[in-house]
Amino acid sequence: TAPLLTLSSGHTIPQLGLGTWPLTDESVVPVIVAAVELGYRHIDTAFKYGNETGVGDGVRSCGLPRDQLFITTKLDGTYQGDDRALRGISDSLGRLGTDYVDLLLIHWPCPEEDLFVSTWKTFEHIMASGLARSIGVSNFKASHLERLRQETDVIPAVNQIQLNPYIARIEERRYDATHGIATTSWSPLGQGNSLLAESVIVALAEKYHKTTAQIVLRWHVELGLIAIPKSANVGRLQQNLDVFEFVLEFAEVAAISALDGSQGAGVDSDFEGH
Ligand code: A2P
Repeated sequence: TAPLLTLSSGHTIPQLGLGTWPLTDESVVPVIVAAVELGYRHIDTAFKYGNETGVGDGVRSCGLPRDQLFITTKLDGTYQGDDRALRGISDSLGRLGTDYVDLLLIHWPCPEEDLFVSTWKTFEHIMASGLARSIGVSNFKASHLERLRQETDVIPAVNQIQLNPYIARIEERRYDATHGIATTSWSPLGQGNSLLAESVIVALAEKYHKTTAQIVLRWHVELGLIAIPKSANVGRLQQNLDVFEFVLEFAEVAAISALDGSQGAGVDSDFEGH
């Protein structure tokens, strides 16, 4: 299993979790059962993925007590605003079939709507009432986080952003670290693109007798990031969790980080993707 990191809320989070996009209500169930069997204890979903019901089914099929699992979901942009955010969490809990989530995120800032500050104030109440143990955001830039810092009371426990060696998000990581916000990497493997064939990563895979995906995930771990790779394949699920028994040298982490910017800028937070 993955080591635990402590969030600013005081709760712990497994440093490696299972991403579930784009699995469906049907396809996610056996993946969760297999992942939990392998030792995964952290599952990441969202209203927008359309698979919360399947995630709930998968969790119940595992037979583990609820408190042994860390479950994250995300409030869709269409649910932003005070009353709608309350309805959003209540609908998500209904689909997941659970009394609380471990982490509730604002999925996208949707800055053009300018509702993320009032949504966040509702999140503070949602956390106080116990429906979410920790609250955070996703796809937020420093400017959005600054507004929360200046206009609300609780600092987000997590900012979940697209982050991999091609899109290393140095500024965002620095902001998060300065303010005690944990950074989670979505699509940590670069969605299976050319990243895993980069020569620097292939060479390290040979040196450590690991796969290229394991080298990339270890890079996230060395940087103190939380990573949520998705795989629907048992062998790849297993290797993605098996990244805690070797270390990269400092210079090797830096060599991987040097890939930053070589493949475009990633999705912008004004764009609503996954
Ligand atoms: P699959 O589900 O067939 O394993 P990300 O989490 O960065 O978005 O990447 C997910 C993509 O990477 C999926 O297409 C997934 O395919 C693939 N993937 C996941 N784990 C591995 C791995 N260990 N090696 C190669 N590809 C992987």
